[in-house]
Amino acid sequence: MTTIKPDLQSEIGRIPPELHSHFIEFLGSCIYGGLWVGEDSEIPNYHGLRKDAVDALKALEPPVIRWPGGCYADTYHWRDGIGPREKRPVTYNENFGTYEADSNQFGTHEFMELCRLVGARPWLNINLMSGTVAEMRDWMEYCNRKEGTTLSAERAQNGSKEPFRVELWGVGNEMWAGGGTSTPESYANEYRKYASAFPSFVSLDPADTDRPVMKRIASGPDGNKPLERVKWTKQFFQALGQFRQPPIDAMDLHFYNWNLDHGMHPETEFDEPEWDAVIHGCLELEEIIQEQAALIQEGLDQFPPQEGPEIFRGPRKTCDLVVGEWGNWHGGAFQNRPALYQQCTMRDAITTALTLDIFHRNCRLVRMACVAQTVNVLNSLILTEKDVCILTPNYDVFQMYKVHRNATALELKLEQADDKLYAFASRKDSQVYLNLVNTDMTREKEAVLELPGARCLSGSILASDDPHACNTADAPNRIRAKAAALPAQNGSRFQFTLPAASVHTYTFELSES
Ligand code: AHR
Repeated sequence: MTTIKPDLQSEIGRIPPELHSHFIEFLGSCIYGGLWVGEDSEIPNYHGLRKDAVDALKALEPPVIRWPGGCYADTYHWRDGIGPREKRPVTYNENFGTYEADSNQFGTHEFMELCRLVGARPWLNINLMSGTVAEMRDWMEYCNRKEGTTLSAERAQNGSKEPFRVELWGVGNEMWAGGGTSTPESYANEYRKYASAFPSFVSLDPADTDRPVMKRIASGPDGNKPLERVKWTKQFFQALGQFRQPPIDAMDLHFYNWNLDHGMHPETEFDEPEWDAVIHGCLELEEIIQEQAALIQEGLDQFPPQEGPEIFRGPRKTCDLVVGEWGNWHGGAFQNRPALYQQCTMRDAITTALTLDIFHRNCRLVRMACVAQTVNVLNSLILTEKDVCILTPNYDVFQMYKVHRNATALELKLEQADDKLYAFASRKDSQVYLNLVNTDMTREKEAVLELPGARCLSGSILASDDPHACNTADAPNRIRAKAAALPAQNGSRFQFTLPAASVHTYTFELSES
């Protein structure tokens, strides 16, 4: 039996809420049908945004939403998505087999309205493949300029006198593939130009502090390619180290847990070895984060010292690691319609839980992470079928794990550890939050927590009697998180029985002594 001993004195670091962020894109039915139905729809909506999905998302308190892509960003022209909707151009979207005309009804204002309704900060990704520096600058001016200019007047005419205050800007997406099949060097050259061309929104008035601080997020490597990803980050930073350095705030790594060994196999059909393979697949991300964070630091360290008078030298450079896209990608998604639609079983809920715990444990190294994608695509939290909105078990994991935001991640010592049982704990003031994940598809597990001077206040459990089950339009609440029985307490020992394939969170109160 596994014994878990949290070290209450250890402080790995504060867990940034942004580790629970989201990614949406016009791909399959993520946007159209999933989030946007239009004002005239019979499906209840807030100015065209479907109410059930927005309400569900709002309840998660999403920190950041990344849009418009993904690959879609590589050819997206922001001007196609502003102005009267009936006058917007119709373009075509071939991304990942979407193969649909794009009416551009969901554009910048609609995205900002979504962010406003759910309380998220926007992350916009610019088009570095078919776009231009001028187009990028205009989008930034349109979104953020407070002073009266032609672009800010156009924004006001289109419904928003107030600037959108967008701070997070991705400089390209997956530059090694759909972003232009770039080399790290060719991307670094482009990056220099774009990153240096960001407009500034500072004010000369010291009282006018409500100004966006622009953050440049460089396109990082393909996390799924072990050799290439090392080369990418090394060579990109070496290239940036030549001559003067452009500003850089973060690098965006992408990692998908590919499940392609069984071809186009439906994502709800698997045996135990296939279950185990997917569970193990997601764990690789921990090493990748550690490797990439170290490479970023090495890259910054080899930047040459700056010359010239002190006053012109910038502060020492730092660059955060962010994971802009992550999630399970099952082979079956390639033949599903709408494109990349995936059902989610407890297998996906468990890898979602393990991945969030990887971020929590490595919160000193990774600053932000966006699940791919939030609605109707890949590792979704929300699925929609016409007028029905289904919350997947992944949604419940995000909901259960909210307690860790802004808490301090703790070191755990595991004794006689069962290799299918995973644990994570954090602390906020006098409360300790514990996650327990039994990844065994068929066997329950026993575990003990040693936490002197504590009492258990509450617990939740997410489990299913059938690991292949999922929430559907006919049975939307087949798998839902429920209150868990409190563990039996014997002094400072708490004893848990964890059903097969289950995710748990418990809250403990520490006594004052
Ligand atoms: O999330 C689906 C796609 O995966 C995104 O468009 C792209 O960035 C990635 O390859």
